[in-house]
Formats: sequence, C-alpha cells, structure tokens
Amino acid sequence: MDVPDVCEDQMNTPKGYSLSQIRLHWVVAALIVTQYLFNDAIGQAWRAYTKGLEISFDPLVLAHVLAGVLILAFTLWRLRLRATRGAPLPPEQEAPMLKLAAHLTHWTLYALMILMPLSGALAWFGDVELGAIVHNILKLPLLVLVVLHVLAALFHQFVLKTNLIARMKTAEE
Ligand code: HEM
Ligand code: HEM
Repeated sequence: MDVPDVCEDQMNTPKGYSLSQIRLHWVVAALIVTQYLFNDAIGQAWRAYTKGLEISFDPLVLAHVLAGVLILAFTLWRLRLRATRGAPLPPEQEAPMLKLAAHLTHWTLYALMILMPLSGALAWFGDVELGAIVHNILKLPLLVLVVLHVLAALFHQFVLKTNLIARMKTAEE
C-alpha cells in the first residue's frame, strides 16, 4: 500500500532535538508516570466532593493538580519550540508505514497531554462533572499510547538498530 510521507514536508528540519526539547520530553514523561502512580487521593477527594462531603487538605491532591498543570504548560512550551525550531525527520531507512504510525502517535500524545489536564481542571476548578468523565475515559488511550511509544522506541533501538533513543539523549543545537 502506498503510504503518504507525512513527515517529509516539514519546513524546519534540524538534525536533532535541542537540549530544551530533550529536557521537556523527560520531565513531562516523569510527571505523567507520577500521575498514574498517585491518583487515589484526588479520586477519593473528587468522590467525596460530588457526594457533598467535606474535603480536608491533602498534599497528594495538590501534587496531582500541580503536576497536571505543569504537564499542560510544558506541553504548550514543547509545541511552541516544535513550531519555531522544528524536529528531526524520522530515520531515513524507516518504512513509510512506521513513519506514519510514529507521526500519528506523537500528535495524539500531544493532544492527550493537553486534553487530560484541561478535562481534570474543568472538573476540579469548574465543577463540571463531564470533565471528570472525559478525564476518566482519556486516561486509558494515553496510557496505551505511552506503552506503544516506549515499545516502538525499544524496537527501533534493539531490532531495527537505528539508535533512535540517542535522539532523546544528545542535543543538537
Ligand atoms: C509518558 C511518557 C512519554 C511521553 C508522553 C512521550 C512523548 C513523546 C512525544 C510527544 C514525542 C515526539 C517529539 C516530537 O517530535 O515533537 C516523543 C519522542 C521520542 N520519545 Fe517519548 N515519550 C515518553 C516516554 C519515552 C520513553 C520512556 C522513551 C525511551 C524508551 C522515549 C523515547 C522517545 C524518542 C527516542 C523520541 C524521538 C522519536 C523521533 O525522533 O522520531 N519516550 N516522545
Ligand atoms: C496529563 C495530566 C494528568 C493525568 C495523566 C492525570 C491522570 C489521572 C488519573 C489516572 C486519574 C485516576 C482516575 C481513576 O481511575 O479514578 C485521575 C483522576 C483525577 N484527576 Fe487527573 N490527571 C492529569 C491532570 C489533572 C489535572 C490538571 C487536574 C485538575 C486540575 C486533575 C484532576 C483530577 C480529578 C478531579 C480526578 C478524579 C476524577 C474521578 O475520580 O472521577 N487531573 N487523573
């Protein structure tokens, strides 16, 4: 099947990611993992709130909200960097189908990294129940895509041997 090369028309094509892009990638990845490991407190607080019960201060609730807001801010910063500085093209030898898959995964990840904090904030600050429903639905696709993304990076590294992970370790200014 003929797969369009969606990545070749990029105007800005640096040789690699910048130090800021790399740092933001890893900080956001760590924050996202934290959100999945520690969400019991906010879940309980939200359930108590929707039942009209009193909720007392819990640092883990504050941490979930702060980490989520940071993820949103850092993601917008990353997208700005991507628009102004650009991102490297996928490895040349990569099959067009894999390039398309990577392209779609990266952009869906970006969308979810924006929609997760927005839906959470809509529930928490805006008191909108639908926000919590959307938040609960989107947590699964985000998790699945992160797992696929990591498996793809490992597949590149150890099976295709493109040394792809070096792109997210060594900066190219
Ligand atoms: C929550 C965890 C993670 C998220 C949300 C995430 C998200 C992303 C996104 C959105 C990009 C696209 C960057 C761009 O071109 O603008 C990217 C690139 C990349 N990520 Fe991750 N990532 C995560 C974890 C990881 C891990 C654990 C690894 C290594 C095993 C990894 C390896 C890479 C590599 C090598 C690239 C560059 C791919 C390329 O240039 O084609 N990521 N990541
Ligand atoms: C990318 C950022 C975020 C991720 C990955 C994330 C992830 C999660 C996860 C996995 C849960 C547990 C859902 C469950 O199984 O009960 C949760 C619950 C929750 N989060 Fe987030 N969250 C993020 C950002 C935020 C932000 C910024 C806020 C608020 C400002 C927020 C508010 C909430 C609330 C209110 C709940 C409880 C919802 C419920 O139990 O129905 N989240 N979050």
